[in-house]
Amino acid sequence: MSDFRSRFLEAYSVLKSELLHDPAFDFTDDSRQWVERMLDYNVPGGKLNRGLSVIDSYKLLKEGKELTNDEIFLACALGWCIEWLQAYFLVLDDIMDNSVTRRGQPCWFRLPKVGMIAVNDGIILRNHIPRILKNHFREETYYVDLLDLFNEVEFQTASGQMIDLTTTLVGEKDLSKYSLSLHQRIVQYKTAYYSFYLPVACALLMAGENLENHINVKNVLIEMGNYFQVQDDYLDCYGAPEVIGKIGTDIEDFKCSWLVVKALEHSNEEQLKILYENYGKADEACVAKVKELYKVLDLEGVFAEYESKSYEKLVKSIEAHPSKAVQAVLKSFLAKIYKRLK
Ligand code: IPE
Ligand code: MN
Ligand code: MN
Repeated sequence: MSDFRSRFLEAYSVLKSELLHDPAFDFTDDSRQWVERMLDYNVPGGKLNRGLSVIDSYKLLKEGKELTNDEIFLACALGWCIEWLQAYFLVLDDIMDNSVTRRGQPCWFRLPKVGMIAVNDGIILRNHIPRILKNHFREETYYVDLLDLFNEVEFQTASGQMIDLTTTLVGEKDLSKYSLSLHQRIVQYKTAYYSFYLPVACALLMAGENLENHINVKNVLIEMGNYFQVQDDYLDCYGAPEVIGKIGTDIEDFKCSWLVVKALEHSNEEQLKILYENYGKADEACVAKVKELYKVLDLEGVFAEYESKSYEKLVKSIEAHPSKAVQAVLKSFLAKIYKRLK
């Protein structure tokens, strides 16, 4: 649990208020209200793990030194930039995945007054990030590196989303093209960079570090991000919607999920036939047949095994790192997600 949660939430109000009074746009009461409602609905309602990780990581990198109020605010602002980035991707992801709920409420585009206005809201969310960075970091020596980092990671995430979506066309033609290496490529790009590397990279830049000197940290974080998305794929099927706040759609959407890759790996001829006939159909009975097969193949057990193996492997990689402060950052990350239920 982060010591900075209340400071973090305070920073949201400050950043929101600046954006709602951005001098570059002549707001009317109605347009200001729209943006405020859109932000409150989509930005702060998640677990805030990614955002809080920036300030938690920064504190650990400072090895116990008291942080000034300015430093705390800046780390929180970077954390919120990641939450904004996530909100932007999720608003659009839910449209593309035809999802129903997110964070325990209807997806933004499902609201009758919103619909496809959500596409532009996604673009607005994305545009808020450089505005926050300009407002608070323009004078910092690492400003250019920060802009570059957000641009790189956004490109990687959007590319990951592209292969996540276009791979379903390949699967429709031939489900046997789904493999662990394909899955790994998708999740590394669509999830690992922005969820795991980005928060620590932000903290490193704030601490005056050169990111090129931290390739090992990056590799461990990417590995952790891959594990996190395998959990997401698992929870899509086995998570309780009231706990994870969303209803899974991976089976209906023909996604190259870790579960279907494992099912393909463990099925005999007959079971493959069930999978080929029922995977990727928006029909309750078909989804039920796929889930029944997962049960027979004991994918829950296969996942439990994967989870403990990944954990051990990650702990080993972390302990190989020379810096204790960096080890502490990575371990706190891993502790947050190991055996997560949401
Ligand atoms: C989306 O992955 C990742 C990004 C938003 C970049 P998923 O499609 O698996 O995410 P959920 O399950 O809808 O949250
Ligand atoms: Mn999705
Ligand atoms: Mn998912």
